[in-house]
Amino acid sequence: MESIWSQLCHIPQRPPLPGGLHTEVAVIGAGLAGILTAFALQQAGHRVVVLEARRIASGQSRNTTAKVTSQHGLLYDRLIRRLGEDKAGQYAQANQRALEAYRQLIAAQGIRCDWQECPAYVYGSRAEPLQAEADAAARLGLPASFVQQVPLPFPTAGAVLFAHQAQCNPLLLLRALAEPLTIYEQTPVQHVEGGRLETPRGTVQAEHIVFACHFPFVDLPGAFFSRMHQERSYVLALEGAAPLAGMLIGSGEDSYSFRSYGDLLLLGGGAHRAGRNPQGGRYDLLRQKAREWFPGSREVACWSAQDCITPDSVPYIGRYAADRPHWYVATGFQKWGMTHSMAAAQLLTGLIGGKEPPYASLFAPSRPALSALPGLAAEGGQAVRGLAKRFLQIPAESAQSIPPGHGGAVLLEGEKVGVYKAEDGSLYPVDLRCPHLGCQLEWNPDERSWDCPCHGSRFDRFGRLLSGPAMEDICHG
Ligand code: FES
Repeated sequence: MESIWSQLCHIPQRPPLPGGLHTEVAVIGAGLAGILTAFALQQAGHRVVVLEARRIASGQSRNTTAKVTSQHGLLYDRLIRRLGEDKAGQYAQANQRALEAYRQLIAAQGIRCDWQECPAYVYGSRAEPLQAEADAAARLGLPASFVQQVPLPFPTAGAVLFAHQAQCNPLLLLRALAEPLTIYEQTPVQHVEGGRLETPRGTVQAEHIVFACHFPFVDLPGAFFSRMHQERSYVLALEGAAPLAGMLIGSGEDSYSFRSYGDLLLLGGGAHRAGRNPQGGRYDLLRQKAREWFPGSREVACWSAQDCITPDSVPYIGRYAADRPHWYVATGFQKWGMTHSMAAAQLLTGLIGGKEPPYASLFAPSRPALSALPGLAAEGGQAVRGLAKRFLQIPAESAQSIPPGHGGAVLLEGEKVGVYKAEDGSLYPVDLRCPHLGCQLEWNPDERSWDCPCHGSRFDRFGRLLSGPAMEDICHG
């Protein structure tokens, strides 16, 4: 299940780390946040290397819908009420400046990434909250207004319109920005101690370390696992649907997202907390909506994405922890990774260069949490002991209830084991205990993966690690 960006854009391979080295800044993760940060640091005269566990943009950057906007759902009215107008204004301006920074960067570097200026809309079924959001955003200096006309094929009560926003092809952008950077692929960072980053390919010694790897994998200090969770959402690319004049997203819980790319329409939705999709059917739901709203359209691709969610809807960008002054982190972008990645690049470049931007405290990872998420103590209740990893023979009769092409739990020697049953009946056992902090993994029928409901680690159907914070596979045998 590849996104259209993956299908359309090839990024040249880079070599792994050739051995130990010293650098001024090591950036962990070659997704958009890591690459933008490395690019900005290099432009500011710093010596930077990027260490990537797999390939450039092999994580969420290839799955984003790439809406470049300071409109982040219905957020600003809530932010003003929770944080006050000053802080809400800082959030608004950091993201609006990020949009402008993209324009300048793309123009200055001559990057061809199908950048397209267009309005952004949040639509809804009740006018009142939309009106309140439009007023709040306008008060913060954003180009916002309430409109009744919404370019969608179904009725709404109106929308919040943000003028002069943009969309692009994220991989074309990332490929161009990556070109002048020193990036080592297939170089997973396994351990970080002070300024030492240990990888199977050698050790890197750095004065500053930036964790831009989606979910920071060092649990302590920082304890990001206790104040962040992950959500998945799904996308279809449709051919033969009339293009929409703008980017749109719904304001409700079961909202849908729309944007055009050339002749294609991207329809997104079906969001759920990672690891909580036991029945599946998210793609089917989108297909049903596509038939209803865009009759005659044809699906040409489908894929899904995963986002880190913070309790106060503000990302964690800044120093990793008080006792690690030279470690930095950029995570918790909610579903708005495009502008947050750019804001992170600017903020972290300022911090590393000794110029702390005035809005740094808003994004500081050390800020007090509004409300703690269920963390290790609560989620740990779901943990199972798990059989020691070894070759397991699963009797066929114990997996009888699992249909071919699906996964499920079976009892073996009195303990639960995960099993994927291939179409030909072969069984692939996995450890159901998440190697991160031990929560019980759940089968996700839409992606045919094992997902963790606690902090969102994912493994493919055979048990190979797809994304962290876990750092190892769960395969048996
Ligand atoms: Fe943390 Fe699974 S226990 S991701």
